[in-house]
Amino acid sequence: MRLQVEKLNFSYGTNRILKDLSFQIKDGEFVSILGPSGCGKSTLLNVLAGILKPDGGKLLIDGRAVQEPCGTFAYMPQEDLLFPWRTILDNVCLYGEIHHCKEAMRAEALQKLEQFGLAGCEDKYPDELSGGMRQRAAFLRTTLCEAGIYLLDEPFGALDVITRGDMQDWLQSLCSDLKKTILLVTHDTDEAIYLSDRILILGEPGEGIRKEIQIQEKDRTREWLYAQGELRAEIHRIIKEKETR
Ligand SMILES: Nc1ncnc2c1ncn2[C@@H]1O[C@H](COP(=O)(O)OP(=O)(O)OP(=O)(O)O)[C@@H](O)[C@H]1O
Ligand SMILES: [Mg+2]
Repeated sequence: MRLQVEKLNFSYGTNRILKDLSFQIKDGEFVSILGPSGCGKSTLLNVLAGILKPDGGKLLIDGRAVQEPCGTFAYMPQEDLLFPWRTILDNVCLYGEIHHCKEAMRAEALQKLEQFGLAGCEDKYPDELSGGMRQRAAFLRTTLCEAGIYLLDEPFGALDVITRGDMQDWLQSLCSDLKKTILLVTHDTDEAIYLSDRILILGEPGEGIRKEIQIQEKDRTREWLYAQGELRAEIHRIIKEKETR
């Protein structure tokens, strides 16, 4: 699915967060959003997911304007939001329950548990899993939605650096199978370089996109990533520009 965002506006009261924000994501493209804390990254995803109503602007999916974005986006919010009293299987099949296709979704979830590193965890409760496993469970729940575009808000932000690296490797290997359009919000420059086709760097609230960076490399390894010192430095410089304004 192709996403076009045109002149999106959003304010909390008088606090303007998104001002005439426009960008596009191609079908199957992986785009990351970087930017300082509080610049409006989660707000943007909440607006796209239909949780917050924009003050103006247009959203087009495959060229057609959408009013009700529900069903288009699978949203993984900043917190894993697993219910502690539900088993992993019941957590990941929540949408199936809501949309009355629980049995079909349970069968699909059981089939996918291994791919998500959760084999044998179906009857466990979230507090019996590690942080990385919980994130994978939340991600499995996201992928079980019938949606063409994934919105991921710092999915690995709460994990230690080693687990985060493992999760990034895992997501990278999964991406070609998923064949989805992905918008990832992250604070981790390396994560953005490693996983994205394109990086959008947001500026201060209301400023919009400060810079867009295309990443061409097809064969990405950790060694390739470690050698991206110049790109990493450039991204940091662009994000930090605000501090000198
Ligand atoms: N519910 C709310 N009511 C009023 N202001 C809010 C609300 N939620 C967020 N804000 C403000 O809007 C701005 C953008 O918040 P947002 O959560 O989108 O930032 P972010 O870029 O996701 O930050 P982080 O990287 O820390 O997650 C911040 O200044 C925040 O204080
Ligand atoms: Mg946020």
